[in-house]
Amino acid sequence: MPAPPVVLVYHPDEAEAYARLVRPPGSHEIAVHVCATEAEAAPVVGEADVIYAWQFPPALYGKAPRLRWLQAMGAGVDWALVPELPKRVTVTRAPGVFGPWMSEYVLGWCAWITQRMEAYRAAQREQRWLGNVLPDRLRGKTLTLVGVGDIGREIARVARAVGLHVIGVSRSGQRVPAVERVYRPGHLSRALAAADFVVVVAPLTAKTRGLIGDEALAAMRPGAWLLNIGRGAVVDEAALLRALQARRIAGAILDVFPTEPLPAEHPLWRLDNVVITPHVAGPSTSDEIAPVFNDNLARYVRGRPLQHVVDRARGY
Ligand code: OXD
Repeated sequence: MPAPPVVLVYHPDEAEAYARLVRPPGSHEIAVHVCATEAEAAPVVGEADVIYAWQFPPALYGKAPRLRWLQAMGAGVDWALVPELPKRVTVTRAPGVFGPWMSEYVLGWCAWITQRMEAYRAAQREQRWLGNVLPDRLRGKTLTLVGVGDIGREIARVARAVGLHVIGVSRSGQRVPAVERVYRPGHLSRALAAADFVVVVAPLTAKTRGLIGDEALAAMRPGAWLLNIGRGAVVDEAALLRALQARRIAGAILDVFPTEPLPAEHPLWRLDNVVITPHVAGPSTSDEIAPVFNDNLARYVRGRPLQHVVDRARGY
């Protein structure tokens, strides 16, 4: 009888919670290692056939000769697609999990803007009746999604339900449901110029790094807001800072940054037209990711093709 497959569960804070929900199918047996640090993973990674992880240390891939499959616990896989990861390893994602969270984040912050929540709360603190300031409507405004993968599509669906027009930008320019028009990156400026809200949700790849730079920001309307919920490095941070300081755009809601946590001395903290949230727009929870992993685990042990496989050449 072949030895049961070995799964290494790796998460800096919640490895136990993820491991508790790992369920092999039927009577199949597996062995599980639970690791929270590189030091814990180093002695056992050599036995692992499968890694189920968030931000696994790249230095350990070279010590994992049996590794065949890596299941990412988060939305993005840029941390997994490093040169150290051997070509034989299949990387899988967890689609369907993050869109519902991120669409509420996006709609919530768009409504924070149009409902002028900050102004009413500030007036309340001063016991001031702010009757001369009216809320605005989301209905009829335009939201441009830079990235229309499974997360972008869910944001589009929810945005359409409240009457927003939705435009998209994607590598292929192919039509997607709930998005009125999808532009290719070559027409990025046109898509941005139409927006009241620009939502950056594209994966970080060699092609998207710095995509939202001076030129893209100059194409945005002065009244438009940028929401970055994808990866910090898709936006050129220095260009964004200049645009915000000069008020060439209205403001930014930022959940992701090239350096996280955002350093305490960073000038973005002090801008009154910026909202900073600590990479929480699409939280990973063990109970939501477990069914995706367990379904693929059943396929893996039965020798069937895995689902949600990342195209390593494209980077997502
Ligand atoms: C991510 C996540 O990939 O938060 O950034 O899931």
